[in-house]
Amino acid sequence: MGLKMMGNAKTARNGNLIGAVGMTIAILGTIFLHEGEVSTMIYGMIFGAIALGTIIGWFTAKKVQMTKMPELVSMFNGMGGACAALISLIEYTHHQHSGEPATTGTMIAIIAGLVIGSVSFSGSIIAFLKLNGTMNKPVRLPSYNMLNNVFMLGVLLFGAFMVYSGGNMMLAYLLFAAALAYGILFTLPIGGADMPVVISLLNSFTGLAAAFGGFLYGNKVMLTGGILVGSAGTLLTLVMCKAMNRPLSNVIFGAFGAGTAGAAAGSEVKGTTKEASVSDVAVLMNYSKSVVIVPGYGLAVAQAQHVIHELEMLLEERGVSVKYAIHPVAGRMPGHMNVLLAESNVAYEKLVEMDDINPEFPNTDVVLIVGANDVVNPAAKNNPASPIYGMPILEAENAKNIIINKRSMNAGYAGIDNELFYNPKASMFFGDAKKALTELIAELKTMD
Ligand code: TAP
Repeated sequence: MGLKMMGNAKTARNGNLIGAVGMTIAILGTIFLHEGEVSTMIYGMIFGAIALGTIIGWFTAKKVQMTKMPELVSMFNGMGGACAALISLIEYTHHQHSGEPATTGTMIAIIAGLVIGSVSFSGSIIAFLKLNGTMNKPVRLPSYNMLNNVFMLGVLLFGAFMVYSGGNMMLAYLLFAAALAYGILFTLPIGGADMPVVISLLNSFTGLAAAFGGFLYGNKVMLTGGILVGSAGTLLTLVMCKAMNRPLSNVIFGAFGAGTAGAAAGSEVKGTTKEASVSDVAVLMNYSKSVVIVPGYGLAVAQAQHVIHELEMLLEERGVSVKYAIHPVAGRMPGHMNVLLAESNVAYEKLVEMDDINPEFPNTDVVLIVGANDVVNPAAKNNPASPIYGMPILEAENAKNIIINKRSMNAGYAGIDNELFYNPKASMFFGDAKKALTELIAELKTMD
């Protein structure tokens, strides 16, 4: 029910709550309906850990800014992976000490949980460090892909050997370390615009690792939860790959996401730009019939979602039709723009997806681009040397007038220049989005 309700912006909040209540019941059920004796000390440890996790999770989630959400997701995801790996290590230890050899099925669940959980944990930590800027350069050694793939194959063979031979404690720790190292190697070379795909992929790994834990304990809730996370993560990965035009095989094995490192190639654009003053923009918008707003990461940074809604209402009052063009990877997390605009109560029907809005641009009087850059960069269509070549974009260049609001000529996430800024129909409207839009509203109000 929770998941179903999360499919719609209006019911999503309650859906999330229902899901959380369901999980709480499942956890309490698992603890109290457990067969066999459980000592008070064990209960104490379980509830102590739950309390600690709840307090840390609650405060971190309360405090986090919307723009830092992907970091939080990757950190939480990493914790899930670590749990799955630790469960496997502990269960392996139990079997070693009890002298009762594990069945092949149990061994597969233990080893798969250990390997996948560890990869997910260390990979997520690297993703976290990359997203918060601590590690901002993709690391690439010569023949990196080949080395990585050989390493991955080695870890898989090692895992298979453990299942086959039963292994020993020493080898289990070695496999744990090797899987952690692979998680790091896997995420390290990835940069630029491909990070969200990786996080979502790691998320699906964590789900899978948890599902193996469910097998181990015969716990159906854990199994179902793991499968849900695994499949949702995989679906999201595929949807994002499609939005960025990257085959999944490329994500796992290929030389992808050279990002900022490879960004220089063919990305420099020469030409002149025009600058528009606040009154130029106000006049243009006041006398237009249709305006399409393209929100991007900068809107979130400036926290200008309320101001932009105010601008939209003001224009609508004057008979201008206003729509928002939503690119699937605008911002820094899936659905970022939807969440941001829902915060300021923009009507959901006003948000139009890329495929539906693109044919409307030629009939649009003004496209107002606010803090967006890569998602409107025509190089994705016409410059094969560009690192974002092939990514579907919002075709803002087809509108009759193009106004771009950002603070400078600096590049966006992919680190490349944007030829749209040099388009003869385009004008730069410089300034922080919140400040610039507030001034624009004030100017429009003087034009009654
Ligand atoms: P970007 O290409 O990152 O461009 C954002 C622009 O906003 C920057 O050029 C910046 O220019 C401007 N800006 C920053 N702060 C601003 C402020 N306070 N006021 C006004 N402008 C401001 O954003 P996008 O077009 O939304 O594209 C998203 C990019 O992120 C894509 O490359 C995507 O692949 C990647 N990505 C997406 C996700 C997901 S899942 N959504 C996750 C990670 C990465 P100035 O500095 O000149 O102001």
